[in-house]
Amino acid sequence: MTVLVTGIGELTTNDDELGSLTDAALVIDGERVAWVGPAAGAPDADERVELEGRAVLPGWVDSHTHLVFAGDRTAEFAARMAGKPYTAGGIAVTVRATRAASDEQLAEVLRRHADEALRQGTTYLETKTGYGLTTADELRSARIAGQHADEVTFLGAHLVPEGWQADAYVDLVRGEMLDAVAPHVRWADVFCETGAFDEDQSRAVLEAARDRGLGLRVHGNQLGHGPGVRLAVELGAASVDHCTHLAPSDVDALAGSDTVATLLPACDLSTRQPLPDARSLLDAGATVALASNCNPGSSYTSSMAFCVATAVLQMRMTVEEAVRAATWGGARALRVEDTVGVLRTGASADLQVLDAPSITHLAYRPGVPLTHAVWRRGVRVR
Ligand code: NIG
Repeated sequence: MTVLVTGIGELTTNDDELGSLTDAALVIDGERVAWVGPAAGAPDADERVELEGRAVLPGWVDSHTHLVFAGDRTAEFAARMAGKPYTAGGIAVTVRATRAASDEQLAEVLRRHADEALRQGTTYLETKTGYGLTTADELRSARIAGQHADEVTFLGAHLVPEGWQADAYVDLVRGEMLDAVAPHVRWADVFCETGAFDEDQSRAVLEAARDRGLGLRVHGNQLGHGPGVRLAVELGAASVDHCTHLAPSDVDALAGSDTVATLLPACDLSTRQPLPDARSLLDAGATVALASNCNPGSSYTSSMAFCVATAVLQMRMTVEEAVRAATWGGARALRVEDTVGVLRTGASADLQVLDAPSITHLAYRPGVPLTHAVWRRGVRVR
């Protein structure tokens, strides 16, 4: 079954040769993109969808979420807006609720948020464990995550749980817990931050994960300056996420590496942190991704469009840079950029149509729901 999507006013491909096209068309064949080019030269297909000048871009790639959770932290958010600072300790509230929830309840929360994201154009989604923090709870979190997310990350080193000494807990994470969870995940992550895990503890967990064949990610430099970015680059992590407080040496390290700097502006707004210095990263040559960090504590939004608008309006990214970071950048952070976050022959048919003539409207009309249609793996889901 082939579908010709035509009448595209502006087509953002993220392909270096194709670039951005006007008066374009695209053919979907099964799960893949079969053809991209000027509408006038489009081949026939079984079905035709006329977009009347709307813009098309790759589906959002949300490379950082924490969606295996239960419970609610509205009161914590309200207290923060009244001046109380965000600390890593809030994670413990969600850990208690998550441990008390059934598998079905956790799966339902994840499915609901994944659907919410998909309706807004997110066609590729990463999510993490990290609210279980026992071997059994991390294992079931990883299994449930794998049912509804495209990529799963093990974050047993999210917080030292109540009743544990840090070093003993690190030994549990890098030993028994990793042994149990590793077969169910592709990635391992550590919250390297004051109040969570220090450099030595983070390194121990990351090296153990690497020894078991997992790819690495790091939560770094979220609440203050620290070793997270440096450690991520040194260990060849695919991404270091947050990057809110960067020293010039951190920017240089990222620019000289393959580690993606994943920026989470919705989290910085929700925790009253400064917004990251995207301009310095981009100007230095670092690869930047934008992600939602959707979680009940520090960033309760699944809206990638909100992140893109914030990046343009408040972080001095151009619309093109922000859209690329929220699509190709996320795919690169997950090492799937050959077929995801890009629209060219052979790529995954993951695309979104805006009810607007160009991607500029994502920032020009902030807060307006512009998603008109979404295809995921060739299936129209909206
Ligand atoms: O990415 N930084 C650590 N983890 C999450 C916060 C989770 C929470 O507060 O529940 C984050 O912001």
